[in-house]
Amino acid sequence: MIYLNGKFLPIEQAYIPVLDRGFIFGDGVYEVIPVYSCLPFRLDEHLARLQHSLDGIRLANPYTVSHWRSLIESLVAQNEGGDQYLYLHITRGTARRDHAFPAGVEPTVFMMSTPLAIPGQELLTTGVAAITAQDNRWGRCDIKAISLLPNVLLRQLAVDACTMETILLRDGLLTEGAASNIFIVRNDVLLAPPKDHRMLPGITYDLILELAAANAITHEIRDISEYELRTAKEIMLTSSTKEILPIVRLDGQPVGSALPGAVFRQLNELYQNYKA
Ligand code: PDD
Repeated sequence: MIYLNGKFLPIEQAYIPVLDRGFIFGDGVYEVIPVYSCLPFRLDEHLARLQHSLDGIRLANPYTVSHWRSLIESLVAQNEGGDQYLYLHITRGTARRDHAFPAGVEPTVFMMSTPLAIPGQELLTTGVAAITAQDNRWGRCDIKAISLLPNVLLRQLAVDACTMETILLRDGLLTEGAASNIFIVRNDVLLAPPKDHRMLPGITYDLILELAAANAITHEIRDISEYELRTAKEIMLTSSTKEILPIVRLDGQPVGSALPGAVFRQLNELYQNYKA
């Protein structure tokens, strides 16, 4: 069952008009929320980021936090009980095609649940490969916008190169992955780029930094240069659907010893314990 504009219905019966501004302009925002054992993970944080995205595109939140909570609870209850992720999608609604905001239009609100396939033990043990590319996205990457064409093209580069992710560089600095945040380790310090308009403020990113702080893992939030990325001892990616993954090859070159590192292993253990 999915949720669309006030109704729960089977996905086959869910339609939106072709003039929906999400379809025509990519004019909307979204969220991805993991659900473990029927409990949405870090829900308050996801709903706060949704509000930030809505504010960023000047669209009023159609629901209160408590209404979101009860809709999400119903959606989870109506879907299979296993680990899943919720996709929330809000567009500016349906109107005659005109770039400027339409007046008096209801937003379109869509939610669906999908089984969550987190990376298996093998990937956590062997690590994954990534490539780099220039970050050619817009200047508001902090908004979780549904207009994802640059991210789609950048991620496809990773797939074409038989790797897991494309790590993005802007003006010689690491920003994030095509659909993930990136951390590195140098001199036994966990380094994270600062949350600003150049990257999505990841919910998993925040949790990793919280876990590092609570467990005396030395860490620093600061700009990371391309040189520092390329000579890092460890690189890892984080996202709600991939959790935390070690990157052991970058553009065909080994990262550190080309095996998942000690900081990754510690953070992953802390993450798995936190989740449980
Ligand atoms: N994407 N940066 C980008 C560009 C992302 O698309 C994502 C997640 C992240 C990680 O954010 P979080 O930890 O809150 O998931 C960072 C989701 C999973 C997606 O688009 O499917």
